[in-house]
Amino acid sequence: MSQAAFLPPELTTEQLLLRRWRPEDRPAFAAMNADPRVMRHFPSLLSREESDATADRVEAFFQKHGYGLWAVEVPGSAPFAGFIGLSSPRFEAHFTPCVEIGWRLAAEHWGRGYATEGARAALRFAFETLALDEVVALTAAGNLPSRRVMEKLGMTRDPADDFDHPSIDAGHPLRRHVLYRIARSGNRGVGRA
Ligand SMILES: CC(C)(COP(=O)(O)OP(=O)(O)OC[C@H]1O[C@@H](n2cnc3c(N)ncnc32)[C@H](O)[C@@H]1OP(=O)(O)O)[C@@H](O)C(=O)NCCC(=O)NCCS
Repeated sequence: MSQAAFLPPELTTEQLLLRRWRPEDRPAFAAMNADPRVMRHFPSLLSREESDATADRVEAFFQKHGYGLWAVEVPGSAPFAGFIGLSSPRFEAHFTPCVEIGWRLAAEHWGRGYATEGARAALRFAFETLALDEVVALTAAGNLPSRRVMEKLGMTRDPADDFDHPSIDAGHPLRRHVLYRIARSGNRGVGRA
């Protein structure tokens, strides 16, 4: 039997439920992906079809690995607020193959600590359940809120790891990316704040 069969289907935190996606999450996900505030640090907004294709890829990753970019529910408040979780880049770079932690929340849910809280649970899962040695995070260099989340998680950036994202055209202002890393051995207390 594969590892996936033994993994917990959801993670809970003080304020959040990180769960598998449902078909009814897709309209709210498409609305986020069409919001210029949410997509400010991405090259383009997503159409409904592109958003659904992203959700399909998330689902395929869950089916293969048993974990992934969990749907974020705020119990009693919001059935779907975005995603937080683990994935693997589909491009090749000096740090791949790797497991990446990532997040994208609808703008009305920003500023409440949700990304950091959910990501702490995802990191704990990565180190304690999957026993990974390292998790990375990457973002456009100018995405300061996302970088702040990485820093609050205890992740660190070496400027020597900065890279040009291979799917973004040369000369595009979002091409330059930063890479943050955290190792299991450097992960003391990540789940306890
Ligand atoms: C990145 C994102 C998930 C953060 O979600 P969140 O729940 O608001 O995050 P948190 O509340 O846990 O932490 C955000 C931190 O960024 C800080 N921040 C917000 N805007 C900032 C800015 N313009 N410059 C610097 N820091 C900023 C907040 O003050 C907070 O830090 P603090 O706790 O020290 O005050 C959310 O902004 C988002 O979905 N953005 C759009 C999608 C995206 O860019 N995803 C990441 C792609 S790599």
